[in-house]
Amino acid sequence: MKFFIDTADVREIKDLASTGMVDGVTTNPSLIAKSGRNILDVIAEICEVVPGPVSAEVTATDFDTMLTEGRKLAKLATNVAVKVPLTWAGLKTCKALSDDGVMVNVTLCFSSAQALLAAKAGAAFISPFVGRLDDIATDGMDLIAEIRQIYDNYEALTTEILVASVRHPRHVIDSAKLGADVATLPPSVLRALANHPLTDRGLDAFLADWAKTGQSIL
Ligand code: G3P
Repeated sequence: MKFFIDTADVREIKDLASTGMVDGVTTNPSLIAKSGRNILDVIAEICEVVPGPVSAEVTATDFDTMLTEGRKLAKLATNVAVKVPLTWAGLKTCKALSDDGVMVNVTLCFSSAQALLAAKAGAAFISPFVGRLDDIATDGMDLIAEIRQIYDNYEALTTEILVASVRHPRHVIDSAKLGADVATLPPSVLRALANHPLTDRGLDAFLADWAKTGQSIL
């Protein structure tokens, strides 16, 4: 399973990329706003740090302007994945950019019908938002299972399932069990994957016993 990180904070991205766990990055207009930086500058910089796909989202809502924005974002680097919302204009833009050979990530997906449309439009990635479904008392993982089942029925549907709106490690594990291709994680969730209280307790005990030996490996 690939891990992307869901942030536009370059310092965080550099820090986590050094762990070897970061296969790509996703951003959205809210994350760009949070970074306080110009979208073109920050996306270009992230693309230099991480060689994998870096999602940059269009902000227009009509087809013509979305396509122009998408082409401009795609010119920033070869690893840009243009992110479009799951609307008819977004799907049309997805088809046009995909036909040009540009990776497209279709975002704000909340149903398997939407995921099927995105795949037919040639999306490289579909982003179902599991956390926001959980927020309205609908199990986000049911959607991942349904999309996986549908895509697996048709060889021609090669769109990768990119689980988004991930809130905690359980989302990551459940997505992996269901065969999702990618999970995009807030930095805090990626860090939390390594945590276990028994690891901490075990390490404390080993170090206490080691100190009693008076030895040093170096
Ligand atoms: O980038 C899209 C998605 O991951 C947003 O997550 O936490 O705002 O629902 P969240």
